[in-house]
Amino acid sequence: MRFVVTAGPTREHLDPVRFLSNPSSGRMGFAVARAAAAAGCKVSLVAGPVSLATPEGVERVDVTSAREMMAAVESELEAARGEMCVLVMSAAVADWRPKTSSPVKLKKGEMSAVLELERNPDILAAVNSKVKAGELDGSRLVRVGFAAETGDPEGEARRKCAAKGLDMIVANDVSMPGCGFGVGTNKATLFFPDGGRADLEMMTKEELAGEIVARAIALAGRRSCDV
Ligand code: PMT
Repeated sequence: MRFVVTAGPTREHLDPVRFLSNPSSGRMGFAVARAAAAAGCKVSLVAGPVSLATPEGVERVDVTSAREMMAAVESELEAARGEMCVLVMSAAVADWRPKTSSPVKLKKGEMSAVLELERNPDILAAVNSKVKAGELDGSRLVRVGFAAETGDPEGEARRKCAAKGLDMIVANDVSMPGCGFGVGTNKATLFFPDGGRADLEMMTKEELAGEIVARAIALAGRRSCDV
């Protein structure tokens, strides 16, 4: 079985020294990649700009922007054609990018106080379009997303799970101490499209990754029986 895991933030450059991003360290996604490799799966890790060592047995593709991450995910999924594959979108992908990006550093006087933005593509939506178009085999693809919320995540997580065609969504309240960005622990609730949920305790990201990988492998196993 193959895992394609995304991790870390994306950076959306305004010029070579300025960008829009978020505080994702990559720890959650790297832990998922490590757990999947430990479970004997072939793992491709699509990593935004983070300073973490590549887990043993994992193939890593480094990217910077959301558009680069989307291209890398699509290419890894295409390479997995014919195999049962689990896509885990742990990355915190920037939803917006500056409308224009300069290849050279902008001088203060050349910049406007108002930054014009345009939407980045949604990577999961792009994958779903490829499944719909028959370019990827949805029957061999388990899709796991994350939802970074502040406060009770249930409503938004369930909405994202349905809208993004996910088999499981891992919701974390990133405003809670010891949760979400940068830290070594996380507390998540898993939501499933059939209405099911699993409330997990606070645990290390390695432990949570083990739980996510085990559940994703079980979902893939059920899918294999249907293929
Ligand atoms: O990296 P760490 O410091 O360990 O922090 C971990 C984490 C907080 C980044 C992680 O646990 C987490 O919550 N990751 C998802 C963050 C996020 O972008 O959530 P979202 O609710 O904005 O997006 C929902 C899902 O859609 C995510 O699976 C996301 O990867 C995906 N997405 C989002 C935007 C986009 N353009 N394309 C996408 O596919």
